Formats: sequence, C-alpha cells, structure tokens
Amino acid sequence: MSKKVVIDCDVGVDDALALILAFHSPELEVKAVTGVNGNVPLQQVFENIQKVLSLIQPQDKPLIAKGADRPLKGKTIYAHSVHGRDGLGGANIERNDGERFWQIYSGLADQLIQEMARQYPDELTLIATGPLTNLALALQRDPEGMRKLNEVILMGGAVRTKGNITHLAEFNLYSDPIAAKLVFESGLPITVVPLDVTHQVSLTSPLIEEQVKPIQNRFSRFLIEAIGYDFTTHRFREKERIYLHDPLAVGVAIQPDLVRKERTSLDVIVQEGECYGQIREVEEGPKIEVCFGVEASRFLDLFFARLK
Ligand code: RIB
Ligand code: CA
Repeated sequence: MSKKVVIDCDVGVDDALALILAFHSPELEVKAVTGVNGNVPLQQVFENIQKVLSLIQPQDKPLIAKGADRPLKGKTIYAHSVHGRDGLGGANIERNDGERFWQIYSGLADQLIQEMARQYPDELTLIATGPLTNLALALQRDPEGMRKLNEVILMGGAVRTKGNITHLAEFNLYSDPIAAKLVFESGLPITVVPLDVTHQVSLTSPLIEEQVKPIQNRFSRFLIEAIGYDFTTHRFREKERIYLHDPLAVGVAIQPDLVRKERTSLDVIVQEGECYGQIREVEEGPKIEVCFGVEASRFLDLFFARLK
C-alpha cells in the first residue's frame, strides 16, 4: 500500500534530487508538487518543478501549483550562491511545455494542500522541503482540513547543531520564521528533519566516482551537472560536498526507521537580531518528532538505488 504524498518545495538542487527520489519510489504516490519562494524566486521555482518533472516523466501526472512568492513577514533572501542563478546549478533540462507530465492547478498552493488533505483524510503525507509559508497559509485558511493530514515531514531547523544561513539558524526556517512558528504550534503530527541529521548525509567525490558515475542515465547526468562535479579534476566546481537535505526528508517518508527520533516541543525565534530564525527546544507546546540520528549509509544506498 503506497503512501499518498504532496511535496511542497523551493526547487533548488537538493529539492530536485528529492523529487527524483520520491517519484522513483514505489512506496510513495506523489499526488501534487507545490512551489514556494525560497532558494530562488517563486517563478523560477515553478519553472524548475516543470523542468524536473520533464526529466522524471511520471506515469501518473501530479497536480502542480504556485504558492507564496514571499514570506509571511520580512524580506526574501534566496540562496543563489548554493543553487546557481537558475536554482538547478545550470543543469541543462528542456522544460517540456506539453502538459504530458503535470496538470496545473487553477488555484494557489495552500488551497491545493488543504483540498488534498480533505480529499484523502488521515491518508496524506505532506513533505515540505522549503520555507513553510504555504503550510502556514493553508493552516490559516483551513485548520480543520489540515488536521486531516496523516503526517507532515519537513526539512528544516538546526536543533542541537549550528545553522547554515547564520551560525544559529537554518535556511528554510530563517526564510520565514513566523510561518515555521505557526506550523510548530499547530498540533499537526510533525516530523522535523533538521541539519542535525542532514549534515550526516552528503555526496563526496569518492561517492560520486564509485556510486554515481557507473549509473550513466539522465538522472545521474542531471545530478552531476546540477551539483557541478568535474570528472577530469575529480572535484566539485565550488564546494567539497553536497548535502542531501531534502532527499533525506523523502527518505524518512519511505523508510521511517532510517532515523532515530525524540519527541520535544519547538519554538522559533521571530524577533530580529542574532537569534532570528533559530529553533529552540521548549517545555510547553505540542510535541513534535525531531530526528537526531540517521543510518547514513543505508539512506545513501537507497538514494543511489533509486537514482537508477
Ligand atoms: O538548509 C537547507 C534547506 O534550505 C534545503 O531545503 C535547501 O534546498 C534550502 O531550501
Ligand atoms: Ca529546499
């Protein structure tokens, strides 16, 4: 029995790899992909969703929808330095204009999310791999409908480790801390996949040479182009490794026993200043599952197997 999922993302490179993993996993049935402002502006995110679906060519066309083009409050920050101008590291993908691989939803993402939660009561998993603006808007629009979600798995936060956008905050939460605070206070059944575990799953040069290079298909070629790896120098263009942040959130939906979780309550700092966007464990508030351990090699084996 496969899990019905909706993926809310800000396609960037690791979001794209998360989509490939999700659509290549029989355990999941991706009903919709929604875009949110994050790594790159919303319009570019939506273009990238269509490009990646053109690459994947899913049998069952998912619905796709545009969501928020800015956080609930505050300014947009983007992450072009990590994901490139186009958000896909300049990877060359034709965006197939025929809607052979998707159906464009008539409304906004938050409306699609709450409609799907109502359409599949107690059955739908929402996987969020970008800022949580769309989730927060859906909660504001229809809290009762959103409570019909079976689970929410979100990539975000740095709980007992340092941040990646500031030394205290992680990018997705820092991009819209008020949205994150609303989601954590909602009482939804949430599993957080923070940097505490995603920093344990990365693609390094040896892994690419040994595991990715032999695959030789359009997905491995996309990965190499998007992460900027050069087989002549055996090095990345600009970095030493790429973290599989968003693919791990999908991995948790596929195989929940990949991670060790603790139940805690979380708050997000929304006041401007050094701690802006920081996630903190607190005594009060709804309990949330937070991943603090991961079987990294088992996840990487799954990732490479599904890339094929
Ligand atoms: O901090 C990592 C997260 O921020 C990932 O989801 C990445 O895609 C960016 O959105
Ligand atoms: Ca992301």
